[in-house]
Amino acid sequence: MRILLIGPPGAGKGTQAEKLAAHLKIPRITTGDLFRKAVQNKSPLGLKVQSYLEKGALVPDKVVLELMEERMAKPDCKEGFILDGFPRTVGQAEGLEKWMVQREMVLDQVFALDVPEEEAVLRISGRRQCSSCGSAYHTRYHPPKKEGVCDPCGGKVVQRKDDEEKTVRHRLKVYSQETAPLLHFYGKKGLLKKVDGSQSPETVFKNIGSLIK
Ligand code: AP5
Repeated sequence: MRILLIGPPGAGKGTQAEKLAAHLKIPRITTGDLFRKAVQNKSPLGLKVQSYLEKGALVPDKVVLELMEERMAKPDCKEGFILDGFPRTVGQAEGLEKWMVQREMVLDQVFALDVPEEEAVLRISGRRQCSSCGSAYHTRYHPPKKEGVCDPCGGKVVQRKDDEEKTVRHRLKVYSQETAPLLHFYGKKGLLKKVDGSQSPETVFKNIGSLIK
């Protein structure tokens, strides 16, 4: 099964992709995580994409497509994958389509999650993560017991640079200009299912599950 999740920052793509991947036993591929890892490792790719990530701008299509084509060709993707955060432009969607056609693959379903802008800003600007073990926190919904300190490992709890409110608002603008046209792109192909992302994570997951064919 090959599934794609589209939605503005904070819509819950990562949260739902993780649940779906565990449920369907196929890998979740997240361009954002791949780029952040490259930045952390100071790899040539990381050096190339760092400034885009920090500004909340999109990485150029060519760079994204090269990375994803390599990742999707790995053996763990044989039975399918959940794409989270890719494609994000019509150019990337066309590139993905071409890559799949060449391999006689089809995209099964596209889920579009949506949340009101202010909810997205609240969710993302409160998001925190342990810099050592990666445990996720939220200043409002799930703060660590001791401020700034990870519960299980004692590591430093930090905010993603691009999660500061000003950058989040820019990312939302980029989404409506560059990524929202994909709703039309996949709608025309009869692949799109819209899901209300403002419900609880469990309810959103149940709703997606009921739409999976
Ligand atoms: P990326 O990491 O993909 O960020 P994003 O799309 O902006 O998405 P987020 O991870 O911020 O939000 P999400 O929808 O996954 O929500 P999540 O589940 O985490 O991309 C980062 C950057 O990389 C981009 O800006 C760009 O520079 C670059 N990039 C990546 N892909 C690219 C591409 N294809 N082309 C070009 N550039 C690319 O949830 C967010 C928060 O809300 C969490 O705290 C979570 O706990 C909470 N939450 C989730 N669901 C719920 C719920 N139902 N109720 C309450 N809280 C919830």
